[in-house]
Amino acid sequence: MTSRKLPPGKLVIASHNAGKVKEIRALLAPFGIEPVSAGEIGLPEPEETGTTFAENALLKAHASAQGSGLPALADDSGLCVAALGGAPGVYTADWAEKQAFEGGPGRDWYMAMGKVEGKLAELGPDTDRSAYFTCTLALAWPDGHSEVFEGRVNGTLSWPPRGTLGFGYDPVFVPLGREQSFAELDPAEKHAMSHRADAFAKLVSAVF
Ligand code: IMP
Repeated sequence: MTSRKLPPGKLVIASHNAGKVKEIRALLAPFGIEPVSAGEIGLPEPEETGTTFAENALLKAHASAQGSGLPALADDSGLCVAALGGAPGVYTADWAEKQAFEGGPGRDWYMAMGKVEGKLAELGPDTDRSAYFTCTLALAWPDGHSEVFEGRVNGTLSWPPRGTLGFGYDPVFVPLGREQSFAELDPAEKHAMSHRADAFAKLVSAVF
């Protein structure tokens, strides 16, 4: 089946995550697209009630397309750790959510990385530390049409966290074949190999 093409013009980035919006803007820059973020135009953030990355990405993209009357692009992504049976997976952002006694509400990525590390430590020193980031991009139009693209980057988890670039779990993720964490790599290098770049390359060849 051929994909619907995306003409130049406005596209809503259906995310309230500043790190993701920044990366998606950079990836869209060469295609004559005018990205506007859902936050900038006052669209509410829908609750992510899906149990898969694709369900959540579609939910966010459709909500923004309906709310704005424009095509909308959503990203649902996460970290999947082999020894933890794929966790935190779709709950990657939730693991960073602070409880009231931790000073919440709000997100603390260092606490989330610590939780992952704590669970690996419980499994012993020889535990498999392989993990991957996955990214599902959903593109939705106001008439209800949608397209879905998936990308992935394999790597290992290191401890303690290293680097100040990027966002989320970047300081503990070392992509395969590299020694630096995603938070130590130049953003252009991360963009060239990330799960988001992989999904994006599939989107680009389908819709532009
Ligand atoms: P969601 O897609 O909004 O549910 O959130 C997924 C979470 O996965 C993000 O908030 C990040 O913490 C994490 N994540 C996704 N992509 C990356 C990345 O490129 N680097 C680091 N963390 C990421």
